Amino acid sequence: MKLKDAAHLFRLAGVFAAGILIFILVRSYLVPKSFGQYGHFRGDALTEIKAQPISYAGHQACEACHSDVLDLKSKGKHAQVNCEACHGPLAKHADDPGGVTPEKLDTAKLCVRCHEANSAKPKKFPQVASMEHSGGLACNECHTPHSPAIVTEGGKK
Ligand code: HEC
Ligand code: HEC
Ligand code: HEC
Ligand code: HEC
Repeated sequence: MKLKDAAHLFRLAGVFAAGILIFILVRSYLVPKSFGQYGHFRGDALTEIKAQPISYAGHQACEACHSDVLDLKSKGKHAQVNCEACHGPLAKHADDPGGVTPEKLDTAKLCVRCHEANSAKPKKFPQVASMEHSGGLACNECHTPHSPAIVTEGGKK
């Protein structure tokens, strides 16, 4: 009988079988129930994300109440820059304008976020070396934020 000496092989096969069994048990315990419901991800993630509070109101909401700002902005170079790109998420203010007042913005930090000169930016995008350009003055000393090309009295124009 050749198989007489094969006992060690059966033992090894047993170890493999036990390993696979443990793997299947641990896996069924660890993989969330809704995994695979809609594809290769956890189906419950969708409802969890949906349940999160909304932080951005969207520009249409802002424009309904602040039509004066919209009028000014739509004529200027910032026409395509949405309110909350500068003012930050303000859904709470839009829901309750009297109760939640937006924070004042610091133009020294805000404007350079998009306009600081950087060789990696497309050449066509308007950019300035802020220290040389503004001489340390706040950007809104010369530019009105909602229609930035209008240079106010402080400016050279
Ligand atoms: C339902 C109407 C309404 C909506 C929607 C609304 N606002 Fe207002 N907002 C107001 C009113 C009213 C005030 C004045 C409140 C005050 O003076 O205390 C105000 C004030 C502000 C101020 C000035 C705060 C200050 O310092 O005087 C900013 C900035 C502002 N809103 C931005 C936004 C943006 C951005 C959005 C969109 C996300 C928005 N608002 C949506 C009604 C609204
Ligand atoms: C490019 C950035 C930028 C964008 C885009 C922008 N704002 Fe402003 N906004 C400012 C700055 C800067 C101020 C002046 C500082 C402050 O009051 O916080 C301001 C001031 C305001 C004020 C106070 C009163 C006033 O008119 O000065 C309101 C209200 C306001 N913004 C609403 C809006 C709304 C509504 C939109 C979208 C239609 C919008 N803003 C888009 C930067 C921006
Ligand atoms: C979220 C990004 C963003 C922020 C923040 C921002 N801008 Fe702009 N800005 C733009 C875009 C986009 C344009 C339009 C560029 C174009 O027409 O190619 C623009 C255009 C301009 C222009 C017109 C340049 C020209 O071609 O004549 C000026 C001036 C300007 N911004 C100043 C400011 C000032 C001052 C602030 C701060 C109050 C500011 N920007 C904040 C994105 C931004
Ligand atoms: C002392 C006044 C003054 C101050 C302060 C100032 N600017 Fe200007 N800025 C100007 C003038 C004048 C122009 C040219 C006007 C024009 O082309 O409409 C200009 C043009 C620009 C342009 C367009 C550049 C281009 O290539 O077309 C941008 C972007 C700009 N400024 C951003 C800023 C930012 C960001 C700040 C704050 C760090 C700032 N400015 C502060 C006066 C000023």
